[in-house]
Amino acid sequence: MSDIVEINNLVKSYEKGHIKALNGIDLSIKEGEFVSIIGPSGSGKSTLLNMLGALDLPDSGSIKVAGYDLTSSKKLNEFRSQKIGFVFQLHNLIPNLSVVENIEIPMFTSNLSNKEMRLKALSLLGDVGLKDKAFQLPSKLSGGERQRVAIARALANDPSIILADEPTGSLDSKTSAKILDLLINLHNNHNVTLIIVTHDTHIAKLADRIVKVLDGKLVDGV
Ligand SMILES: Nc1ncnc2c1ncn2[C@@H]1O[C@H](COP(=O)(O)OP(=O)(O)O)[C@@H](O)[C@H]1O
Ligand SMILES: [Mg+2]
Repeated sequence: MSDIVEINNLVKSYEKGHIKALNGIDLSIKEGEFVSIIGPSGSGKSTLLNMLGALDLPDSGSIKVAGYDLTSSKKLNEFRSQKIGFVFQLHNLIPNLSVVENIEIPMFTSNLSNKEMRLKALSLLGDVGLKDKAFQLPSKLSGGERQRVAIARALANDPSIILADEPTGSLDSKTSAKILDLLINLHNNHNVTLIIVTHDTHIAKLADRIVKVLDGKLVDGV
């Protein structure tokens, strides 16, 4: 299978170069692979994930994801809206929109009609077991339920890659296990490439491969 992620000597710094968040990363990920990224707090995991999702531009090096060159600012909106599904630790749901409307947001840039968007959003809610909550506001849902909505939203554009940054970080262990099952099932059934940042070694071990980050570099061994 071909590589969906190709990263060479990627460097990203903050504070005018004083903080080297990524210090020469080389990484390839195959289409359909499940990779976990581990490492201590501040080691550069979120920065790496943000680069993969084109939320920020690198200083130097090359990064190509799903055929897009992420070092140039061209077509990045198209890339983000068509190729990537994000799941964050804090689910980022919009509080004054219903659950089903939250899931429809990423579809606004698609060619779907309002009716098609609604049907697709409801179907995704069914996939995460929350069809009965479609017309509730996020504030009426538990933490685990909100995270399931966030996962449904991440899938709204049929992304090639799901990027999850500590997706279970704020949940209890039982709910975490459910969220992980869900992500892994989606990965298995839809052949989505799944990249999860986690500090939990149990979660990390579920992946096909573990990548460890230390001081902005990848290190061997776990
Ligand atoms: N927007 C930012 N501005 C300044 N420094 C940042 C920013 N984002 C991250 N950093 C710094 O870059 C380093 C890596 O951060 P991060 O990628 O968030 O680590 P991790 O996700 O592994 O905890 C840390 O030293 C952090 O303080
Ligand atoms: Mg982080």
